[in-house]
Amino acid sequence: MDVYANMEEAAEFIKSRLKITPLTGIILGSGLGDFADCVDDSVTIPYEEIPHFKKVRVKGHAGNLVAGIVSGKPVAVLQGRYHFYEGHDIRDIVFPVRVLCLLGINNLLITNAAGGINAAFAPGDLMVINDHINLMGENPLSGDNDERMGPRFPDMSTIYDSVMSEKIISTARSMSISIKSGVYAGLRGPSYETPAEIRMLKTIGADSVGMSTVPESIAAKHMGMDVAGISCITNFAAGITDQPLDHKEVTETADSVKEDFISLLTRVVGIF
Ligand code: HPA
Repeated sequence: MDVYANMEEAAEFIKSRLKITPLTGIILGSGLGDFADCVDDSVTIPYEEIPHFKKVRVKGHAGNLVAGIVSGKPVAVLQGRYHFYEGHDIRDIVFPVRVLCLLGINNLLITNAAGGINAAFAPGDLMVINDHINLMGENPLSGDNDERMGPRFPDMSTIYDSVMSEKIISTARSMSISIKSGVYAGLRGPSYETPAEIRMLKTIGADSVGMSTVPESIAAKHMGMDVAGISCITNFAAGITDQPLDHKEVTETADSVKEDFISLLTRVVGIF
C-alpha cells in the first residue's frame, strides 16, 4: 500500500472542491465542532466523500473537512477526529493531518478536551500544550518510513511551536481569558484513568490527560509543520476529587467554555 499516493489522491480531491488554498489547519476536539460555523465562504466536505478517509465513530464528532476564511486567513478545519480507542490503526488516525500538509498548510492548531492533573487547574480552564508524553503504546511513525513525508528519526524536542504558543497566550490575556500552559499526557483510553494512574502521571510531569492529539502532533511535526495545542480542562482527573468521571461532565464543561474558546481560536488564527 502506498500511503503517499493515497494522501495525494485525497489532497487532489479536496483541492478540486475548494475555492481557497488553506494555510492554517485546525483540529476541533470534543464539544468544539461549532467553530466550523465561524468559517466564512465555507465549503464542507464529509470525510466519507474524501478518498481514503475513515468513518468517524464517536458521538459529538461530526466528521467534516470545512475550508474557508477565518479572520481574513484561509483555513481548513477538521471537524471531528479519529481516536485510537475506536480501534483505528494509528496511521489512519494521522492520515487527515498528513493530507492537510499536502494541501499546503504549515500551521496546525490542535484542540482537545482533557482532565486536569495540575492542582492549579480547574474545569473550564484552557491550557496551551507546551509538551506531551506519549503513553498510547503506539507511534504513528512506526513501520516503514517514507522520506517524502519526513525523516526516520524526527526531532521532538520542540514539538509544540513556541511562537504559536506565545501568540495564543498573549491573545487570551488580551481577551481576559484565563490561560495556563503545561504537559499533556496522551493515553489510549477509552476507560478513564484510575487515581493511581493519575498519581503516576503527576509524578512523571503531566499537567493534563486525554486520549487524542499525540498522534496528530507527532505526524504533523514529522512533516515539518508548526504545531500548537490547546486543551480545554473539562474535569478534575480521577482521584483529585471524590467525584466519579463522566463523559457528560466533559461535554457540558466543553460546552460552557465554547464561546470563549471559539473567540480565542478566531483571533489567533488571524495572527499565525
Ligand atoms: N481523562 C482522559 N481523557 C479525558 C479526560 C480525563 O480525565 N477528560 C477529558 N478527556
